[in-house]
Amino acid sequence: MQKFKILVTRKWPKKVEESLIATFDTTLNVDDKPLSESELIEAMKSYDALLPTVTDPITDKIISTSDRQVKIIGNFGVGFNNIDIDSAKNNNIVVTNTPEVLTDCTADIAMLLLLGVSRRGSEGEFHVRKKEWVGWRPTHMMGTKITDKTLGLFGMGRIAQAMAHKAHFGFRMKIIFYDPYFNDEKTIKKFNAERCENIDDLFSNSDFVSLHCPSTKETKGIVNYETISKMKKTSYLINTARGDIVVEDDLVKALNEELIMGAGLDVYEAEPKVNEGLLKLKNVFLLPHLGSATTETREAMGMRVYENIKAFFQDKEPRDRVV
Ligand code: DGY
Repeated sequence: MQKFKILVTRKWPKKVEESLIATFDTTLNVDDKPLSESELIEAMKSYDALLPTVTDPITDKIISTSDRQVKIIGNFGVGFNNIDIDSAKNNNIVVTNTPEVLTDCTADIAMLLLLGVSRRGSEGEFHVRKKEWVGWRPTHMMGTKITDKTLGLFGMGRIAQAMAHKAHFGFRMKIIFYDPYFNDEKTIKKFNAERCENIDDLFSNSDFVSLHCPSTKETKGIVNYETISKMKKTSYLINTARGDIVVEDDLVKALNEELIMGAGLDVYEAEPKVNEGLLKLKNVFLLPHLGSATTETREAMGMRVYENIKAFFQDKEPRDRVV
């Protein structure tokens, strides 16, 4: 195969970088420093493929640059809201993502957030480390029991289903969901899940609301003060999807007003910045976008990009083509 020129925008797992080097004329980012807009524009002119990650904004300005050579953008991540998909379509550029391989690990992190916030995991850990613990007592650091509680899934895609599996079969949780596009009756039956007809029903009937929808024009900011006000005072919000689905200032306000009991977040509106209001609160469990962060998963994600790019340059249909 002709050695196509590809640019990898961040440092990737070694195993994947080795496969890329063996097949393509590959430029790596050994310093792992994010590329600027002008560097990305230059890259569009001199490479055949661009391999960004979910934190690289691939805007219309970058995509529609003149003298463009890039023909495929192989995104490292299942979410592709960092890429202007309409522009890619209009400019005849193929875009691929990395579904499936991160489903279980992301659902694990959603469960970790759920457990961490309701059982006061990080509070307890700091308590021990700061040597504040004076011993067991009946009223010390009481959290919320999760067994037999209701988990409300906003979106019923792969990650939501993996979480439903863990929560229902592992923790005997009742599953309810809101997803107007989901009609797989067999799966609904498997989890004995109940469909909610609207968002209000989901938010008002859940002990834990876990977000599993993509970030789109329709879902951006959909979790705001009004939505959160519908939740039970004893409930928690969990987000492993995308930060901009939640209006962070509204969440902070709701938490300060004790409208809900707490939140577990892996994603934020303006990553890597985290809202100062959240940092001041004890009843939040905060992680730095770790959903897919296991060696096995990150290698598998990278290999999916590799396979997609390879297929494309062999004139085959890439398995994970999104446009
Ligand atoms: C994705 O793939 O979209 C994740 O957010 C990165 O783990």
